[in-house]
Amino acid sequence: GTSWGLGGTCVNVGCIPKKLMHYAALLGGALGDARHYGWDVAPPEQHNWTYMAEGIQNHIKSLNWGHRVQLQDRKIRYLNAQGSFLDEHVVRSVTKAGKEIDIMAEHIMVARGARPALQPSPRASDHEGRLEPRVPWLKRCLFLSRLVVGASYVALECAGFLTGFGLDTTVMMRSIPLRGFDQQMAHLVTDYMESHGTKFLKKCIVKKLEKLKDNQIQVTWENRELDKEEMGTFDTVLWAIGRVPETSNLNLEKVGVELHPTTQKIVVDAKEMTSVPHIYAIGDISQEGEERPTTAAIGSARRAPPSLPPAVSWTLIPLQVPTTVFTPLEYACVGLSEEEAEQRHGLDHIEVYHAYYKPLEFTVTERDASQCYIKMVCLREKDQRILGLHFVGPNAGEVIQGFALGIRCGATYSDLMKTVGIHPTCAEEVTKLKITKRSGLSAVITGC
Ligand SMILES: Cc1cc2nc3c(=O)[nH]c(=O)nc-3n(C[C@H](O)[C@H](O)[C@H](O)COP(=O)(O)OP(=O)(O)OC[C@H]3O[C@@H](n4cnc5c(N)ncnc54)[C@H](O)[C@@H]3O)c2cc1C
Ligand SMILES: *[C@@H]1O[C@H](CO)[C@@H](O)[C@H](O)[C@H]1NC(C)=O
Repeated sequence: GTSWGLGGTCVNVGCIPKKLMHYAALLGGALGDARHYGWDVAPPEQHNWTYMAEGIQNHIKSLNWGHRVQLQDRKIRYLNAQGSFLDEHVVRSVTKAGKEIDIMAEHIMVARGARPALQPSPRASDHEGRLEPRVPWLKRCLFLSRLVVGASYVALECAGFLTGFGLDTTVMMRSIPLRGFDQQMAHLVTDYMESHGTKFLKKCIVKKLEKLKDNQIQVTWENRELDKEEMGTFDTVLWAIGRVPETSNLNLEKVGVELHPTTQKIVVDAKEMTSVPHIYAIGDISQEGEERPTTAAIGSARRAPPSLPPAVSWTLIPLQVPTTVFTPLEYACVGLSEEEAEQRHGLDHIEVYHAYYKPLEFTVTERDASQCYIKMVCLREKDQRILGLHFVGPNAGEVIQGFALGIRCGATYSDLMKTVGIHPTCAEEVTKLKITKRSGLSAVITGC
């Protein structure tokens, strides 16, 4: 039902274009930094969206092609067609041209993903043509002011790179940023964005969208903090209020596959099996227990399907799944948030080590490092096992990836203290964490 090539959301409209756009926006900032290091970069820097989009699209096409070749190499037959169940062993596939092929199978795996949710607002339908249910892929980017509705990682990442390209960008959030993530860290992320030009409308809910004569969109919202209605005009509105699993039009009810009553995701067990023993579900469409949504999707997609030999198959412990939010100042974490650790173990049984550090590269450019922060949550007793590690700063994902191995292997605070830092890096600051929150001492690191 999409016009994408092989690879699904991540390749076509998710992780890949998003990360590249994030990088493109960071390069814009780096141009400014470069001057402090002696490069004669003449202002004004102009960003050409079309040029960037073409480059990224070309890379995506090469990935689409690569996936196709891999399927061929493995002798997997690929049908570019929409599938649904005829009965519990037969899937009907229908091509765009209407050609039908029925396939009978002993085992069936559903990996249909999720699609963006649009707010069920009575007036929103007038504007569906202008709503972009994905990373904005406009050929040209002439729109000046953008409203991003939502405060999930997708919303903040998009708002971050749009701001980075010099576009007037406002984020409207209903309640808290990055729900499910450590809230102290989440606020550092939004503080940094705010101080770098992204506007925030907090505690606000969209009430109405109206198209004006000049094609602008007039948005009316309820400001819950001030308890009044407010209005603004934007050139584009981007909904990033969540994603819904693609469980409709599959005839899942007919074959008896159970859906989660609230999320509508396919309920699976630890081996990805649905309520029908020979039907499996993986990825964004499935749900096991109450995992954090993003980590669940990544983890479950990586877990080996049950048909693989036991050596390859492993059980994923959600807490060991590292993740990164690619906002202008990145945030990566693995394990428990401070809130979760407190809830599970009690305030008296956890120790939180933290530090405000300054990346070396920020010094010469005199860049503000107020939000560069590391926090590690440990058990307080005995060897102080590490429960969670949180890092806000440049290349956060690259920093946390390696530590995720340590935490998966049960690393303790004393293991970390015996780990030699690589000087000078931001990651080494993790190996030097000494100040506990409990002590109340300043966590600002000074000196080299
Ligand atoms: C903007 C954005 C940024 C993201 N960034 C990251 C990130 O940085 N890191 C990360 O780990 N995750 C990221 N994600 C999440 C990631 O993209 C998803 O978790 C992942 O793609 C889920 O994979 P999936 O295979 O379950 O589903 P999808 O990738 O959505 O694939 C589903 C596929 O099924 C096809 N399909 C649907 N219905 C049918 C049907 N009836 N018949 C045949 N085919 C069908 C679709 O066309 C699609 O190709 C991001 C998501 C978004 C939206
Ligand atoms: C932006 O790039 C496109 C594609 O390469 C090109 O056609 C266009 O002229 C460029 N625009 C400007 C203003 O340079």
